Formats: sequence, C-alpha cells, structure tokens
Amino acid sequence: MKSVAINGYGTIGKRVADAVNAQDDMKLIGISKTRPNFEAKTAVEKKGYDLYIGIPEREHLFKEAEIEISGNVEDMVQKADIVVDCTPGNIGPQNLEMYKEYGVKAIYQGGEDHNLTGLSFNSFSNYDSSYGADYSRVVSCNTTGLTRTLSTLDPLVDIVKVRAVMVRRGSDPAEIKKGPINAIVPNPPKVPSHHGPDVKTVLNGIDVTTMALLVPTTLMHQHNLMIEINNDITTDEVIDILEKRSRVLVVDASNGLGSTAELMEYAKELGRNRNDLYEIPVWRESINIVGNELYYMQAVHQESDVIPENIDAIRAMLKMEKNNEKSIDKTNKAMGIL
Ligand SMILES: NC(=O)c1ccc[n+]([C@@H]2O[C@H](COP(=O)([O-])OP(=O)(O)OC[C@H]3O[C@@H](n4cnc5c(N)ncnc54)[C@H](OP(=O)(O)O)[C@@H]3O)[C@@H](O)[C@H]2O)c1
Repeated sequence: MKSVAINGYGTIGKRVADAVNAQDDMKLIGISKTRPNFEAKTAVEKKGYDLYIGIPEREHLFKEAEIEISGNVEDMVQKADIVVDCTPGNIGPQNLEMYKEYGVKAIYQGGEDHNLTGLSFNSFSNYDSSYGADYSRVVSCNTTGLTRTLSTLDPLVDIVKVRAVMVRRGSDPAEIKKGPINAIVPNPPKVPSHHGPDVKTVLNGIDVTTMALLVPTTLMHQHNLMIEINNDITTDEVIDILEKRSRVLVVDASNGLGSTAELMEYAKELGRNRNDLYEIPVWRESINIVGNELYYMQAVHQESDVIPENIDAIRAMLKMEKNNEKSIDKTNKAMGIL
C-alpha cells in the first residue's frame, strides 16, 4: 500500500484526496491547508483526514479555530511515498526543493510550467514517459480535454493539423474575486494561446494551434475543434471510436444536454461526488466531416477532468501498474467513471 500526501487542499487537491481515498492500492496520509476555514474543518471533522499546515507560523490560527492539526507540511512530506502538489501555480519551484530534500516523488498540476519537471502526463497519450519518474506534471484541465479526444482519434484519423478555439470559464464556482462579469475577453489576446504548445508536451509531434477566450461562466470550458485530415473516414467511425473510449462521452444536445448547464445537471443526476463530470463530453451533433476537415465541439469540467489522471500518474510514478489501460480501468471503477 503506497502512501500519498496532498499538498494544497483547494479545488483540485480536495478532489484528488477523495479519489486517492477511493482506491484500494494507495493510502491518503494527509492533506495541507494554509487557512483554518470551513474546508479545513470538514476535512478533519467530516472526512477524518489528517491535516498539516502549509505555513507553520499560522499554527495558532488553527488552534483558535479548534481544528486539530497533525503537524506541518514537512512532517507530512516525510511520511509519503509521493506528494500530489495542488498548491496554486508558481509555488511549485519552492516546494520542489523540499521534496528533493526528503527524497519524495511529486506530481504537479497544470498551473506549473512543463520545465519545472521536464515531464508532463496524460493517462492516454504518454503514461509510459512518467513510469518510475521522480517528478511529473499532470497537464491542465484544457490540455487534458484536448489530449483525451485527440489521442482517442489518433488510431483512426490521419491528423494533418488541429486548430481549436477554446471558450474558457471566467472562474471556478466558489471564486468571488475573478471575472469577467460582463465581457468576452480574448485570453490571451494573441495566437497561439499556451494550450497548443502544452498539448505537444504529452502528444508528441502533433501540429496544434489554439486560441482562447474568457467568458462570464463558472461551470465548464467549451472547445471547438477543426482538424485537417489525410484519410478517408466517416463521421460514424469517428462517433464509434469516441463512444468506445472511457472518460469520453458522446452526448446528444437533442436529449436535453445542449449546454454546459445541462451537462452539470446531468452530473448531479449521476449522483457524483461534488457533482463532478470527469469525462469529456463531445456533442454528437457537432461531429462532422466536411471535405478534408473533421469538426467537433466538446466541454471540460475544469474542476474534475484531471482528477483520474492524477491517480494514474501516482500508479505510473510509483511503478504500481505498468499498463496504462489497467490503471485507467482501476481508477474508473473506483470512481464510477464511464
Ligand atoms: N481550478 C481549476 O479549474 C484547475 C484545473 C486544472 C488544474 N488546476 C491547477 O491545479 C493547481 C491548484 O489549483 P486550484 O484551483 O486547486 O487552487 P486553489 O483552489 O486555490 O487551491 C490551492 C490550495 O493550495 C493551498 N495553498 C495556498 N498557498 C499555499 C502555500 N504557500 N503553501 C502550501 N499550500 C498553499 C491553499 O490553501 P488554503 O485554502 O488553506 O489557502 C489551497 O488549499 C494549479 O496549478 C492550477 O493551475 C486548476
């Protein structure tokens, strides 16, 4: 049984913690927080997680809030076989020094630069690259979404180049200080956005260029893909290969799933933990081949699509499973992923 620590218990960290807890081949040994807020309290009191503090000088604040602590982050790191670092982007480099000092492996998230680890991870496209690695990075929610469907299509479609326009949520649902509230913001206002180059860190050799916008919604991202192809395939074959792939869902707008709002309602109907939708939904009606171009539209639940990837990354880096599909199946079963 391998020991996993979660450094940073926010949007991503708390979900990875629950996902680790749901597996039978790994053990959650603790989570970290810097503020003694409701998440800290529920982690300890409702979930029974051991809580370590990220900023030791704040110990008195946790005591005042009557939240039991098990030590500071360094104590937690020393007990772990691997740390999943879910702190906000750019804190990674200082934490890497600590992980190195204690000889502990670490997985970073998409807010960190690829160069921090020199390795990036996606369960479908490059599981093997992180097998046994000390440090890797699960790519961002958008990059995971693009990579998941593109790598699914790869065996069928001779891809010449991919162009994608990504409509991104302005903030996560609980964030109250981010926007926009009433604007469409080219973000970045230059081409390409960083997403295309990021896909190339996990999907070798692909020609992909992306443009991105921010809009006033918190629910999901939405992607529009235009793919130049070089072989004779049918729309039905594309639908078939996407339907057969786990973690990808072909959904029907005509069945009441024509928007991100309805997709989130669907996740609630499924009774998922935190109402998460780990799969990448692709709208069936949008899948179309016109001449030598394949088009489709998909959505990404930014808070959750990367969670199963983190579990597979743990298995790869700790050499718990050599075969990516076996890890994917195991993770899917434990989390109820379709
Ligand atoms: N949110 C998304 O949609 C999303 C999707 C995919 C990937 N990511 C990536 O995942 C990573 C985490 O993002 P997030 O959205 O989960 O962030 P978040 O919700 O802001 O959570 C960050 C967590 O890190 C803790 N923290 C803050 N400063 C810290 C420090 N100096 N030392 C240790 N811990 C500290 C916070 O603790 P307190 O709460 O106690 O302050 C909080 O628990 C980022 O790289 C992000 O780019 C995010």
